[in-house]
Amino acid sequence: MIRICPSILNADRDNLLSEISRISEQSDLLHLDVMDNIFVPNFTFTFEQSKKIIEECPIPVDSHLMIADPDESAHLYARAGSDSVTFHYEASSKPLETIFKIKDEGARVGLALKPATSFHDISELMEHLDMVLIMTVEPGFGGQSFMVDMMEKVRQARKEIDSQYLGKIWLQVDGGVSLETIARAAESGADTFVAGSAVFRSDDPGGMVDSLRSLALKSQTR
Ligand code: DX5
Ligand code: ZN
Repeated sequence: MIRICPSILNADRDNLLSEISRISEQSDLLHLDVMDNIFVPNFTFTFEQSKKIIEECPIPVDSHLMIADPDESAHLYARAGSDSVTFHYEASSKPLETIFKIKDEGARVGLALKPATSFHDISELMEHLDMVLIMTVEPGFGGQSFMVDMMEKVRQARKEIDSQYLGKIWLQVDGGVSLETIARAAESGADTFVAGSAVFRSDDPGGMVDSLRSLALKSQTR
């Protein structure tokens, strides 16, 4: 099973709904990047703006919170209707409590790791997770280059998931995913892919989602 989650970070923000309609048929979830200009040096949407996007989005929303206060507010994105809410391990002082608050709102919960954070830092939290997000760029901006040296971390996560949580935990990569890089990520064990620029910079975003999916499927079997 492969999931493609286009990120609207680089889509035309003045026409978000029409941008989303260009990929909604072909995509599994919409990846909503929330940045607060504290945890990362960039700002995207206020909570109210995010809530509006979540409510109006025709497909499930995968909210990726790059915010400094997930312990206080991550669960509100679940309450607003996100299908999945991912917060950063580095931003949380009580990850287990935040995981349960998100789950109590009925959403899937993901935990994101910045490139410098080791997978082993979160292994005791794995049993409570529905998704692990391994960043393949420094969070904050779209259009950066894919960090191939993150594949070792993906392999570690894949090994742990297959040994104890098979089929339960999605393994997502986010940042610089494109036709040139998705095969490496799939071969290393990722099954859920975020793509922003690769999708919205192409002249056929829907077709690009299909191409990314078939490339990932082909590489996954190998
Ligand atoms: C970066 C975001 C990513 C980014 C992906 O902090 O979390 O979702 O928007 O964009 P591309 O695919 O262009 O790297
Ligand atoms: Zn993201």
